[in-house]
Amino acid sequence: MRQPDSNMITTDIDRAIAVLQQDGLVAIPTETVYGLAANAYSEVAVRKIFALKQRPLSNPLIVHIPSTEVLDEIALHIPDVAWKLAEKCWPGPLTLLLEKRAHIPEVVTAGKDTVAVRVPAHPLTRALLENLPFPLVAPSANPFGSISPTRAEHVSKYFGKELEVILDGGECRKGLESTIVGFEHGQPVLYRRGSIPAEEIEKITGPLKAVTNNDEAPLAPGMQSRHYAPDTPTILTDDVAGKLGALEGKKIGLLLFQNPVEHKDVVHCEILSASGNLEEAASNLYAALHRLDGAALDMIVAERVPDTGLGKTINDKLERASAVKPTMP
Ligand code: TXA
Ligand code: MG
Repeated sequence: MRQPDSNMITTDIDRAIAVLQQDGLVAIPTETVYGLAANAYSEVAVRKIFALKQRPLSNPLIVHIPSTEVLDEIALHIPDVAWKLAEKCWPGPLTLLLEKRAHIPEVVTAGKDTVAVRVPAHPLTRALLENLPFPLVAPSANPFGSISPTRAEHVSKYFGKELEVILDGGECRKGLESTIVGFEHGQPVLYRRGSIPAEEIEKITGPLKAVTNNDEAPLAPGMQSRHYAPDTPTILTDDVAGKLGALEGKKIGLLLFQNPVEHKDVVHCEILSASGNLEEAASNLYAALHRLDGAALDMIVAERVPDTGLGKTINDKLERASAVKPTMP
């Protein structure tokens, strides 16, 4: 294999096409986060994603397609409401869980009979998909459980040694993963909070049922799965000033929504949106977490954001980022 070099960060889709056609992995920009992409129809290529991310094979991948027109090639028995969602939200940060067609490899869907599928909105990745004879599977381009990447340099920090091509699409516009919606007996179900607030989806589908058996959701009360997580111990609170009083003498970094908090132990402070805008806060969240995690802190204190609309997604990610690391029994 060719050794990756400093030119691996590129906007040249021809280089990406060449690697993907030979069952290699390429990092791709999307409007949500960067993805680690492979030929969805090549089991060999797909397995490389699981190996590089150290992701359990039980955790299925999202299939990325160039347009709604080819949805029929991936899924069958597509409910009318799914078509309606696709029409309104694609290209964009919505993933649909649908009945899979037989030719979708089992390794993609982790043996399930559903497949996750979406049409991403980033122009570079759309051009890439339009020029490939196969769809791409793409989980977020981070090691399993760690902070998702929203810039090419985040991907390079994680996988710079292993990847030949990182397609540079600039900063991800939305900054949070796609919202995942599935169907149970025709009823819409929210599998993952994401870039499209649940309320927006409900305007199209009617009330969404929340699912609790997905591996991104808590398995049971108190068993929060750790995800989107910095290496630095992180706590989440509504009362930052109060928490700081109890953390005397530590080197602290703050992740705040809107207003600064002064304290002698604070050595790094990130404000997600000085104007209190949740969309801006969403697009800044992961980059702020990456900076905090790189600042050699003893602890990150994160502030809960207003729990409406996109704020629900941000709080959900912050809860997982601050979940306690599992310890060996
Ligand atoms: O915004 C996004 O969706 C990004 C970009 C790169 O497109 N991708 C992404 O992929 O977030 P990933 O692998 O990090 O998260 C996909 C989630 C996982 O929690 C997985 O369990 C769930 O989708 N998923 C995929 N297929 C599924 C299925 N058939 N049934 C239930 N959950 C599924
Ligand atoms: Mg992910």
